[in-house]
Amino acid sequence: MKIKILLLLLSIQVSSLIAQVESTLSFEPNITCKKCHPEIYAEYEKSVHRNSTVFKDPIHKAVWDKHPSNIKKEQYKCAKCHTPTADNISDMLGEGTKGVPDAANETHTEGILCAYCHRVESVEIGVMSNTNKIHPEKKDYYGTREKPLRSKKHYQKYSENFKNGQVCMGCHSHKKNKEKLDVCVTDMGEENADDNCITCHMPQVKGDVSTKGETGTYAFHGFPGANLHKEKLLQYIDMKFLQEEKSFKVSIYNQSPHDLMLHPMRHTELRVSVERNAEIEEMQAKVFKRVIGKDAKGTPPWLANEVVEDTMIKGKETREVVYAKELQRGDKVHVVLGYYLVKPEVAKKFAVEESEHTKKFHILKDEIYIVK
Ligand code: HEC
Ligand code: HEC
Ligand code: HEC
Ligand code: HEC
Ligand code: HEC
Repeated sequence: MKIKILLLLLSIQVSSLIAQVESTLSFEPNITCKKCHPEIYAEYEKSVHRNSTVFKDPIHKAVWDKHPSNIKKEQYKCAKCHTPTADNISDMLGEGTKGVPDAANETHTEGILCAYCHRVESVEIGVMSNTNKIHPEKKDYYGTREKPLRSKKHYQKYSENFKNGQVCMGCHSHKKNKEKLDVCVTDMGEENADDNCITCHMPQVKGDVSTKGETGTYAFHGFPGANLHKEKLLQYIDMKFLQEEKSFKVSIYNQSPHDLMLHPMRHTELRVSVERNAEIEEMQAKVFKRVIGKDAKGTPPWLANEVVEDTMIKGKETREVVYAKELQRGDKVHVVLGYYLVKPEVAKKFAVEESEHTKKFHILKDEIYIVK
């Protein structure tokens, strides 16, 4: 056995050896954390991070099913961010190796582990995407409490990255395709702004960090976004109605530093109607979206080499939409801002148009203004 290992070591180049060691890092399973962090665990259990695998996210699966990395190479390249603790990740991400998700392998069915996030030591900037550097000690977890209660189960360390949101940028910053086109980008905004990924997406809520002592509040782990808990983010989107002489305006202010919706599959829509004497007139719907593609047409993300259309509301932008209609006293103007997780035309191509997950129009703002 020893001789075998020695021979193996000799035959592997130093660089791939390092990759090998990284891939054999082991992580405490999520269930270990449940006993002492029940509130955080319960939120996380339903969150997109835990359910980021092809077995639990139907949209991710639909795209993976048609992806050339799957069909031609049998390599689950998505693992880097969707299942970063898969036990065969070096095969999934390697050159000329094979590795696809296996429903019987627990390291492929649990998405982004508690222990993975909490061992992100730093983020290395990369061209195609960034890379998380993982702390080698199995039970050292980073957090932001300067004086945490001592846990007998693990060590805790303070990390500035957990305060300023850098810890999110290993996976969320950007992802380019082979054409070097950004499929997704998340802008962090100014470094010293009042709000960052953590303050907006992990707000403090009532309860306790652990069962071992009272802290009064703890960081919410349900990860509000387009899929879940959007109510926790609505305070960062402002919608206003302005009546003018021969027209009226709806303005939308996106207080976040990033595009209102980030994933290129999203479709955001402003729906306005005017009710007068019990008759309802629908105004033309206004769509905000980012379409990537080729030859001026939308394509699946792996074929795209240009941005075909970008009407998405940008970070910190106020978007005004003008309606050329003269209003009268007593008119009721009904304004709805909402979105589909998947653009209807894209849902068809990925055969998910009938899925409950994609059919729903999610509402961000719904207001009625009565003209005085
Ligand atoms: C036996 C109980 C116990 C278990 C099991 C446990 N923890 Fe903890 N953990 C604690 C206690 C106690 C604290 C301190 C809480 C406080 O300050 O109120 C803590 C704090 C933390 C912190 C906060 C650090 C900071 O400075 O903000 C993190 C992160 C953390 N635990 C992660 C985990 C993860 C991940 C797991 C599962 C792999 C886990 N814990 C399992 C008891 C436990
Ligand atoms: C560099 C990290 C990274 C890689 C690699 C990656 N993703 Fe993602 N993916 C993300 C992040 C972050 C999100 C959530 C961000 C968002 O919604 O904008 C996401 C979201 C998605 C979604 C949207 C899910 C939803 O909520 O509707 C799909 C679909 C998806 N990814 C497919 C894939 C596929 C297929 C692959 C591999 C071929 C892949 N991703 C590789 C980081 C990555
Ligand atoms: C290991 C990679 C990774 C890290 C680190 C990470 N995320 Fe994610 N995140 C993802 C992936 C992948 C998804 C999409 C999962 C899916 O829907 O399949 C996602 C989804 C989300 C969503 C939900 C988007 C939606 O449309 O509903 C939010 C919000 C989010 N992440 C916020 C954060 C924040 C805040 C941090 C930092 C504390 C963070 N993420 C760190 C990979 C990561
Ligand atoms: C000022 C508050 C604010 C800050 C700061 C902020 N966000 Fe957001 N985020 C929002 C709002 C508002 C939305 C849109 C509402 C929704 O998706 O429900 C959103 C949506 C998202 C989504 C879902 C988009 C999609 O297409 O699925 C992800 C992922 C996300 N943010 C990640 C991040 C990351 C990573 C950071 C740090 C770089 C960050 N956010 C910083 C407020 C914020
Ligand atoms: C996507 C990355 C991510 C995942 C997954 C994640 N956490 Fe966290 N967690 C964070 C960040 C970032 C903070 C710091 C938030 C803050 O200080 O406001 C944090 C804070 C904490 C804290 C301290 C809370 C406080 O208010 O000080 C504990 C305890 C904790 N996490 C445990 C867990 C456990 C247990 C799980 C799984 C059930 C988990 N985390 C999953 C990113 C993550």
